[in-house]
Amino acid sequence: MQFKIQKGNGLKGEIIVPGDKSMSHRAIMLASLADGKSEISGFLEGEDCLATIEVFQKMGVSIFRQEGKFIVEGKGLKGLKDPSGALYFGNSGTSVRLCSGVLAAQEFASSLTGDSSLSSRPMTRITEPLGLMGANTSTTKQGTLPIQIEPVDSLKSIKYALPVASAQVKSCLLFAGLYSQGMTEIEENVTTRDHTERMFKQFGINLDISQSKNTKIIKLNGVESISPANINICGDFSSASFFILAALITPNSELLLKNVGVNPTRIGFLHALRHMGANIELLSKEDSFEPTADILVKTSNLKGITLNTNLVANMIDEMPAFFIAASLAEGTTKVKNVKELRTKESDRLQVMSETLVSFGVKFRLEDDGITINGLGKAGIFNAAVINSHGDHRIAMASSIGSLRSDGETFVLDCLNVNTSFPNFIDVCKEVGINIQEA
Ligand code: S3P
Repeated sequence: MQFKIQKGNGLKGEIIVPGDKSMSHRAIMLASLADGKSEISGFLEGEDCLATIEVFQKMGVSIFRQEGKFIVEGKGLKGLKDPSGALYFGNSGTSVRLCSGVLAAQEFASSLTGDSSLSSRPMTRITEPLGLMGANTSTTKQGTLPIQIEPVDSLKSIKYALPVASAQVKSCLLFAGLYSQGMTEIEENVTTRDHTERMFKQFGINLDISQSKNTKIIKLNGVESISPANINICGDFSSASFFILAALITPNSELLLKNVGVNPTRIGFLHALRHMGANIELLSKEDSFEPTADILVKTSNLKGITLNTNLVANMIDEMPAFFIAASLAEGTTKVKNVKELRTKESDRLQVMSETLVSFGVKFRLEDDGITINGLGKAGIFNAAVINSHGDHRIAMASSIGSLRSDGETFVLDCLNVNTSFPNFIDVCKEVGINIQEA
């Protein structure tokens, strides 16, 4: 599937972006392991989260849609059944890594597979610490999928300092920790998204969390059971980021994004853009188990910055959109410490640099960063043909960047937009973006 996008002007409107992907995975997982019935509203019906549902359905959990909500009849921590056959996680790194923590503790063996992108992503970051807990896992020689998990008598708790800034690794170990004897202790020296910690509390699981300077310690005791919960999921900040970018870079625009998650561990993009001079306001803030706000964005003249490396982990998924903003800012933007981008759905440093070449932007690419020479407020990208390499976030960031191109731009290989933002084209059209499937 490819998108054809025309130059933009005057984007206006109030929009609702789909439910948060990270929260949707976690809600389904915990609801499946709870004793009894949970209801989840605002669930993201994108392919990634539907893969999580299918995996748990295959293990005997009844999950169905009723009046816009997902009803999950939890089987209890020890109630999953042998799926007989491989579990397929599609494109979803979050799903396969978090579920590995659960599967490592089951009495049956499992085999975890995914699509070609997921099958090239690193998995030893989870299999190694799971091994320290006593799990019996194996990967290919390259440390990739399929992961084979064999049952063990029990898991033991560990004390583990995360060697990579990864919420997926942290969360995998917290899920395994639910089944471990004794207290699991995880140390995080770079704060990553804390949706697992927040969602655990909603399902009645106690965590002891302490924070001093940059170090966060999470302690979790193994539990016997989990209570069901009714969860209301807000809009995904990462999906919102494409429309924040659209309003900022398109002349005469003003957009209001309703009920978006603004968890402090997710909004590095917002801080970075404000530092560049972006006009973004948070309205109607609310604080339930996850903070939310309506986000008002107006066209802004951006200036280049040196990105504070402390923001990187909290805007890792927004980097493709950030590179587009930097390309249209006045002056130079320097980004360092982003090597993790090379391990995402594509090598996002490499693939985004190809997008920038097509758009006619000058930059210097390094192994762990990029310096971008912005074109400035009057800057216009070349109308181009861009290959997203099947990466949803590259496809959406490049499509939005095309709003500042000097004609018609084509973005190729966009089918995976369905993994996180299935109605992306409809929302684009709602605000006045001229985009079509071509
Ligand atoms: C996610 C964590 C991040 C992020 C991904 C979702 C999560 O990955 O990139 O899209 O829900 O835990 P890492 O933990 O690998 O950084």
